[in-house]
Amino acid sequence: MGLQWGDEGKGKVVDVLTPRYRVVARFQGGPNAGHSLRFDGKSFILSTIPSGIFRNGVINIIGNGMVVDPNTLVKEIHGLEAAGVDVMSKLYFSKKAHLILPTHRALDAAAEAAKGETKIGSTLKGIGPAYMDKTGRNALRMGDILAHDFKHRYARLRDKHIHLLGCYGFEYEPHKHEKEWFEAIDYLRKFAFIDSEYAINDYIDEGIPVLAEGAQGTLLDIDFGTYPYVTSSTTTCAGVCTGLGVAPTKIGNVYGIFKAYATRVGGGPFPTELFDETGKRLREIGKEFGSVTGRERRCGWLDLVALRYAVMLNGVTELIMMKADVLNGFDTIKVAVDYDLPDGQTNRFPYEVDGGTKPVYRELKGWNTDICNVRRWEDFPAEFKTYVEFIERYCGVPVMIISVGPDREETIIR
Ligand code: GDP
Ligand code: IMO
Ligand code: MG
Repeated sequence: MGLQWGDEGKGKVVDVLTPRYRVVARFQGGPNAGHSLRFDGKSFILSTIPSGIFRNGVINIIGNGMVVDPNTLVKEIHGLEAAGVDVMSKLYFSKKAHLILPTHRALDAAAEAAKGETKIGSTLKGIGPAYMDKTGRNALRMGDILAHDFKHRYARLRDKHIHLLGCYGFEYEPHKHEKEWFEAIDYLRKFAFIDSEYAINDYIDEGIPVLAEGAQGTLLDIDFGTYPYVTSSTTTCAGVCTGLGVAPTKIGNVYGIFKAYATRVGGGPFPTELFDETGKRLREIGKEFGSVTGRERRCGWLDLVALRYAVMLNGVTELIMMKADVLNGFDTIKVAVDYDLPDGQTNRFPYEVDGGTKPVYRELKGWNTDICNVRRWEDFPAEFKTYVEFIERYCGVPVMIISVGPDREETIIR
């Protein structure tokens, strides 16, 4: 689970944890995600495909809670195949995952343009409109592509979208986009379409460990994020129940992933955001540019009020701290431990997070030394251990994995 505003390093963590599992499943989101992995001198970015795809003998499932854009997915598959990865034998689709139509992307762009100043900063991948059609009970599902009247059902939904686009004053030429989309659909028909809720429960019952890979982050959750500056799915642990068909009683470890500082891409509140040289430094050292859109990520100090909120919402049992190395050169490091609000101080994440939400910081001494080559907890400098232990005490959960670089090997497991 991502505990912040996304891009915490979930892709890397899933890749590192996969040897403990035989199944990796995504349960929400779609091509708005960009999960980076690096190993053996190679780098990859995954959007729709689970991050277990590089490990042999691991089944990867596109869960029912996801929204799938055939165009971007097929490009992703071809990219992996070109790099020698056998995707077809390892990737299964839930028949109940929903489809992103070309018109969903157009609607995303139209809705954002109509919002003007208050735009969300969506990745414009059609996520919001696709989930709106799902909950509005209009959508097409992966399983529908096998139906004889799929084209007819598609045309009906497309025409409705074209009408809506007209209301936004958007003109749309379907023929520009449809050919590629249908070619992609044809390609996807070769894959295994399964009742993934049965498959996953069968694995669990047989004692086969399953890893669920979150996308986005808790503060982008449709219910608990900084609404309306959120994504359109349940990004918290509850999404695993609805997005894979796993009962709450069957959930085991919950890995909560966070950066040693904080970032956000797109619009919306961010109490610990830094607009100064320090923010710029974090962005440059942390290479904080979006993996999907290339946009600059906004940067700031670690917000423990928000982190503890996320730990609570997900029921996190183990914390995983990423990008610790980015703070190598700082004399002092700040963490927000409270918010100063117009009506007093609080350590609870408020209903309305806005300019009036002033973080109250605790200043800790930086380690001011390179930790990239550290591979054992014992070898970290004392100031670093103090930083980690402060976070553990505040959140009430141990930090079990620490990442000190983008590569698979740059990982310390306690
Ligand atoms: P995700 O969306 O949660 O999978 O995260 P992203 O892949 O979008 O963003 C994380 C970025 O940080 C990627 O560019 C990773 O290669 C990189 N990264 C991951 N872990 C570390 C780390 O410990 N240190 C550094 N410097 N970079 C990291
Ligand atoms: P991963 O899985 C960071 C942000 C967008 C925008 C808001 C809504 O890589 O962590 P959407 O396209 O869902 O309508 O955008 O959410 N956003 C992300 N930010 N990482 C992501 O995914 C994101 N997915 C969406 O920037 O602010
Ligand atoms: Mg990302």
